[in-house]
Amino acid sequence: MDQERRPRLTEAPEAVRAAVERLLGEPVHEERAAAAGFTASVASTVVGIGGRRLFVKAAPVGGGLGEAVEAGAVLAEAVGDLGPRPAGFAAVGAWRVAAYEAIEGEAVTRWTAADEPELLSVMKRMRTVMEPSPVGGTSPYAEAFVPLLGTWQLLSGDGGPRVDHLRGKPLPVEVPVRMLAELESRWLPALAAGTALHHGDLRRDNVMRQPDGRLRVVDWTHLWTAPGWMDLVRLGPDVAACGLDPEKLLRKSPWADAPAGDVNTALAGLAGRAWREGLLPGPARLRHMQREQALHLLRWLEARLNHRKGTCTPGEKSLRSGGHYDAHKDASGHPQRRSDSPKGR
Ligand SMILES: Nc1ncnc2c1ncn2[C@@H]1O[C@H](COP(=O)(O)OP(=O)(O)O)[C@@H](O)[C@H]1O
Ligand SMILES: [Mg+2]
Repeated sequence: MDQERRPRLTEAPEAVRAAVERLLGEPVHEERAAAAGFTASVASTVVGIGGRRLFVKAAPVGGGLGEAVEAGAVLAEAVGDLGPRPAGFAAVGAWRVAAYEAIEGEAVTRWTAADEPELLSVMKRMRTVMEPSPVGGTSPYAEAFVPLLGTWQLLSGDGGPRVDHLRGKPLPVEVPVRMLAELESRWLPALAAGTALHHGDLRRDNVMRQPDGRLRVVDWTHLWTAPGWMDLVRLGPDVAACGLDPEKLLRKSPWADAPAGDVNTALAGLAGRAWREGLLPGPARLRHMQREQALHLLRWLEARLNHRKGTCTPGEKSLRSGGHYDAHKDASGHPQRRSDSPKGR
């Protein structure tokens, strides 16, 4: 969704538009393309001539987009009111069209402390609904992620073309790269056996805040399993970028007892991907988001490692500086203006 403008239904084949009108039950009067999001699928709220509204995702199969639209329709049935209610699905030639309740409210652009209770209530519902996975045909997220792993192992070893662009770039934390590599090396044993359905993209741009403050999770597209806490870990850097403490969220969540070493491994692996990709040339908004994710994943991990060190060996001086969580400094340790984060991503 970066360099490309999001496609409109009006640009889709006539048969796709006809399918949308059938799902809506009346001719389309207005189409409002979603501003937030990162994919090149049609994602529009359509309003009929009689005032009916639906949110429609549509894309052709073949390159993953139509497949994601189709998976979304299956998942919507399974996750209930955690997400938007499904309102129909159509396969039109190579195109897949999924219609949903158009959620009232706004895409979250900033998390605030007032969201915390509702976020925790979302986590409770996720635990109930998604653990174990309510849908079949899933595969482990950890395995899908393997091609994206290896940043820290390469950087602590011989390097290579995948990480050449990272040489000489100081990490924003004082966790040794060899420690990150060791954590990263435990990725599959730590994560592959998880049995919960994994949303996989839990971030601001995939959460809608209703006028009453209630949060609804949108953009269900992956048929993945992972430990239940993995979605919270992936949300962590996003809330941290807005000044909330992800560790506090985890401690108050139903996954307060998540195995510490496995959570640290998840943070290291995710951070490696974000650090590597965030510093590559590419779509500006996506790269910004990845750099932000890398910074906050690493900070969270550093705070956890320092805390554990403090707990295990009281009185021992930490090898790393600053064990507390501070979301308001940038990668160079300078204070960060709150408005620096992307809007509507
Ligand atoms: N059911 C819905 N009702 C209203 N708006 C929605 C709904 N689902 C998603 N959106 C909004 O549309 C944006 C894009 O939809 P999303 O499914 O996340 O597509 P993408 O795959 O492009 O990220 C979301 O970021 C959200 O702001
Ligand atoms: Mg999205």
